[in-house]
Amino acid sequence: MILLPPDTVHLYWLRCQAAPPDECLRLLSEEERERYHRFRFEKDRNLFLSAHAAKRLLLARYTGTPPEQLQFACNAYGKPHLPGNDAPVFNLSHTRGFVVVAIAGPSFELGVDTEDSQRGGNWRDLITRVFTPGEQEQILHCLQADPQARFFELWTLKEAYSKAKGLGLSLPLQSFSFQLDGDRIELQTNDDAAGWQFELHPNGVFRIALAARNQKRTPWRSKLREMSLLLDL
Ligand SMILES: CC(C)(COP(=O)(O)OP(=O)(O)OC[C@H]1O[C@@H](n2cnc3c(N)ncnc32)[C@H](O)[C@@H]1OP(=O)(O)O)[C@@H](O)C(=O)NCCC(=O)NCCS
Repeated sequence: MILLPPDTVHLYWLRCQAAPPDECLRLLSEEERERYHRFRFEKDRNLFLSAHAAKRLLLARYTGTPPEQLQFACNAYGKPHLPGNDAPVFNLSHTRGFVVVAIAGPSFELGVDTEDSQRGGNWRDLITRVFTPGEQEQILHCLQADPQARFFELWTLKEAYSKAKGLGLSLPLQSFSFQLDGDRIELQTNDDAAGWQFELHPNGVFRIALAARNQKRTPWRSKLREMSLLLDL
């Protein structure tokens, strides 16, 4: 079993270039299998299957429970967790053939988000809807990064924080903001910001943001590792 030191967050990423192995499907719960079958497009089905098989395979190593026997509960906003005060906490994010899973000890609030920073589309149109004036300024007038990359750094940070709080979309996006200054990432909010720590991890075209704090509000560090469904099954 993998032990989680109290000051550590484990972050795994998975590239899903090929269809996941057939054995993955047997790991899913009935409800997860229903969701899997509801996707119209094969690429979406494959990503969902890879993400949930990865989540189960990883959490099995931290709990000692076989992956197919893990049971999850959700908070009022749909955030899944393992029941029990001693269970590790986790969060999952997936996009365009890329999956990330963050895992930490029971005392953590934890959120992770990933986005393809090269994805086309109307990111400029979203700027005023999603970001505070200070964040808009950082995107449109950034000197160190290109505006699209900065957009996705701030986007993933906002999502990771709202996911760590467990609120998802129910947390108004303009009610908090991030200030990026070199490697420093500062959260500005009227809420209790003590102890929150954030990381950004570029991975090829993908941006990954991690948001976490523990009960003691002491610093933590992350350990990153790639996983492979073929090797881990
Ligand atoms: C689910 C939500 C929290 C994240 O959605 P997303 O970024 O589209 O998807 P991600 O891949 O990052 O995360 C999805 C996973 O988060 C987890 N999740 C679901 N609800 C959650 C919540 N309230 N809090 C934290 N995690 C949640 C689930 O494991 C889910 O996986 P599943 O759908 O395969 O079961 C969504 O409700 C949300 O709030 N989206 C924000 C959309 C937005 O407009 N963002 C603006 C940019 S700042």
